[in-house]
Amino acid sequence: MTCAIPPDEASLPRAVTLRVQEKTIDMDKFVIRGGNPLVGSIRVSGAKNSALPCMAAAILTEDEVILENIPQVRDIETEQKLLMSMGAQVELGYGRAQHRTTISCRHLSDPVARYEIVKTMRASSLVLGPLVARCGMARVAMPGGCAIGGRPIDLHLKGLEKMGATITQEHGYLEARAERLRGTHLFFDKITVTGTEDLLMAAVLADGETVMENCAREPEVTDLAAMLVSMGAQIEGAGTPTIRVQGVSKLHGTRHRINPDRIEAGTFLVAGAITRGDLIVTNCEPAHLGAIMEKLRESGARVDVQSEDSIRVRAEEKLSATDISTREYPGFPTDMQAQFMALSTQAQGVSRITENIFENRFMHVQELVRMGANIAVDGRTATVQGASQLSAAAVMCSDLRASASLVLAALVAEGESILDRVYHMDRGYERIEEKLRGVGAQIRRMGNVFGSRATSEE
Ligand code: UD1
Repeated sequence: MTCAIPPDEASLPRAVTLRVQEKTIDMDKFVIRGGNPLVGSIRVSGAKNSALPCMAAAILTEDEVILENIPQVRDIETEQKLLMSMGAQVELGYGRAQHRTTISCRHLSDPVARYEIVKTMRASSLVLGPLVARCGMARVAMPGGCAIGGRPIDLHLKGLEKMGATITQEHGYLEARAERLRGTHLFFDKITVTGTEDLLMAAVLADGETVMENCAREPEVTDLAAMLVSMGAQIEGAGTPTIRVQGVSKLHGTRHRINPDRIEAGTFLVAGAITRGDLIVTNCEPAHLGAIMEKLRESGARVDVQSEDSIRVRAEEKLSATDISTREYPGFPTDMQAQFMALSTQAQGVSRITENIFENRFMHVQELVRMGANIAVDGRTATVQGASQLSAAAVMCSDLRASASLVLAALVAEGESILDRVYHMDRGYERIEEKLRGVGAQIRRMGNVFGSRATSEE
């Protein structure tokens, strides 16, 4: 195994190339003409939020790891960049069967997550635990503020310290060191998804038993735990609030299939309902969509689980107002709040939408209002008075799920909307415009000023 301290980042010509590409992609816009009901079948990709920790878990072994069903989204490319900057080999096998990706972290010459990467993807902090566990040290740029609130990583750090790591902070970087982490008792003051995942990855190679309490129960945590177990880790209780880990000295390679993306599936279900369409959402996991299906039914949509991996949604009647309150899984996900707000603008009556997980996650409200929605925000609660006839407008995407809500609103707005900054959307939705066009949406991508990705086919 090689794990050494790195040369400086100026020696990365590849990073420069990638930055130039990013600039061009950043110019893309969506042009959407509203009014078509979505009809047909639409396929869900692998979950970005499972794929990110599973890619980080490859750090824990010298052997090759194969991941299937990796979504072709920008955050995955960012994680590829992150792992490669540390010396890993990552081949994203898009186009191959199963979107098969291979990762080899045999030689980790540079256990550093640089600011240039961390600032574009906060989930970069997921490498902290695995790097300390495997290399005995990690340097990770401190994530700054972000569009949906402060999003600190104090609970990741507190946990690592309790496992024996020494943490220092200098020049905007956190450095964690521990010759070998030791098992301990951890209690999360607040439920955190990536915090649970990060410390789980630290615990699997620690000396002795780690008991983690008040853990996140999200399916993405369970997916990661399944992968770790297939690598030889000893884990019990993933998916419950208490996870027990018996540390082992070494993990081996594996082949693991990423769960379907429950948020992409939820977004398509809302797309079917808001356009009064008839959609079959395939390749999804209905068991992960309980709260979302329940709220759709409450809104008046007809939602039927058709098979073990498909759900049909229909909405012919009027939609009615529904209150939403975001919670940790299995509650209603914060990542579906913005999409349900778009739906609420089309429902009769007053819907109250309360965001409990993140501060400042109502960035989409002003843009929806510009499209004719009637929404008032008071603290953590938005009150939506529906139904409003939305009218097309030029709007700005501010974060990943806010972008999804604007796409949904544009699908029912009168006229042609232009969505700017769709790179936010590209972070987490795989070829969404192609998927939506396949079920009857009028949506096209307008390319960048350099012309190489000019308007895609309608
Ligand atoms: C993950 C998801 C994100 C989702 C969120 C909540 C990934 C890559 N992202 O984000 O899509 O919206 O879960 O379901 O999986 N907190 C602290 N200290 C910490 C960590 C978190 O105070 O050390 C707070 C956060 O500010 C937030 C809450 O805990 O208020 C939940 O955050 P967390 O679950 O950690 O979100 P992420 O894991 O970043």
